[in-house]
Amino acid sequence: MSLAAVMRAESQFLLPTYDRNPVLFTRGRGVYLYDSKGKRYLDFLSGIGVNALGYGHPAIKKVLSRQSQKLIHVSNLFFHEYQAELAKLLTRMSGLDRAFFCNSGTEAWEGALKLARAYAHAQNHNGHKAKWRMLALDNSFHGRTFGSLATTGQSKYRVPFAPLMPGVSFVTLNDTADLKRQFDGSVCAVCLETVQGEGGIRPVSSEFLQLARELTAKHGALLVIDEIQCGLGRTGRHFAYQHYGIQPDIVTVAKPLAAGLPLGAILTSNKVASCMHPGMHGTTFGGGPLSCSVAVEFLKQAEKRLGHISRMGAYFREQLESLAGRHGGEVRGMGLMLAWALDSPDLAKAVVRTLLKRGILINRTNETALRFLPPYIIEKGHIDLLIRELDRAVGEPGPPLKNSKSGTRRSKA
Ligand SMILES: Cc1ncc(COP(=O)(O)O)c(C=O)c1O
Repeated sequence: MSLAAVMRAESQFLLPTYDRNPVLFTRGRGVYLYDSKGKRYLDFLSGIGVNALGYGHPAIKKVLSRQSQKLIHVSNLFFHEYQAELAKLLTRMSGLDRAFFCNSGTEAWEGALKLARAYAHAQNHNGHKAKWRMLALDNSFHGRTFGSLATTGQSKYRVPFAPLMPGVSFVTLNDTADLKRQFDGSVCAVCLETVQGEGGIRPVSSEFLQLARELTAKHGALLVIDEIQCGLGRTGRHFAYQHYGIQPDIVTVAKPLAAGLPLGAILTSNKVASCMHPGMHGTTFGGGPLSCSVAVEFLKQAEKRLGHISRMGAYFREQLESLAGRHGGEVRGMGLMLAWALDSPDLAKAVVRTLLKRGILINRTNETALRFLPPYIIEKGHIDLLIRELDRAVGEPGPPLKNSKSGTRRSKA
């Protein structure tokens, strides 16, 4: 089918939830994607952080092919070999004790919220109302289901679906005074992304995270950390919170975990896990043998690349800083999770579009931030090419944008 035919069919048969770019991808190899006309695209987005080993990785293909011929699904009523193996790897990497497997980021986050509430109920020995409030962060993003939406601090995602789950208050990112003001004995969990992804690539400050850890530990609440976008090697460590020297009570992961197959996980301590019993939580598809066996291989491959991720991340950041020095804007992020926040949404939109035409995939988040989530196999030459194209795209005046309010595409020099 041609791009035009697919666009026509989608516009007739799909819910209009996506504003897709007009490109029909048909295959991928390494750091490149190819469209239906054979045009090659250098991928600095990795399917929003999912294709972290790029496309067609030989070790992943091997496990996929072997396992797909043996067993794809079995249900959680029975055992298969790979959940425990995967949990063992994830617990070793995270310093936590136990895992639960599900299908997506939002499902992992929902489960984490349920776990926090269940733990609060189990701790409530005095017959009073159990701790129940949750503190989440302004500008955060945790997914599209109701609990995730309720803890997502961006009203554009929440408002159309109100009323949401009650009991959530939002604290300003990195505002320790606000966190102290809003924290009290009714709080069962402080919930945050170590690096806000959809919120524009904004790392939590060390001071704020330490305070969240101290307050929760002191008052019997839980620190619940969303590493769905920033975890599993993306920042050069297994988990981004490991840069801060703290240990959370609950962590969620998903995106790259099964190298493109849907798989999410909740990780937690024995202390928290002790509140769960058979029947309290579950899923039909989550943690099947195909996705879990692929995830075991993904984690082994990603672990080997942590040094490379840190080196490439540092180099990439340096290059972006020099662009920002010339054109303005701010560079944010950690490892290979980076953003260059420009001065205007129109400029950011135009740059994404220009790069797409020139065969480079990035995207824009939080209006002005150019977001970069390249695969972990990216090399300096790829970064250099992107930097040259960004320099050109930001520096050159283009035709006025259709929906441009300001009518300008130049950033402040
Ligand atoms: C930090 C974070 N949490 C949760 C989610 C939701 O994940 P999913 O889209 O797999 O439900 C996302 C997705 O972008 C995310 O970035």
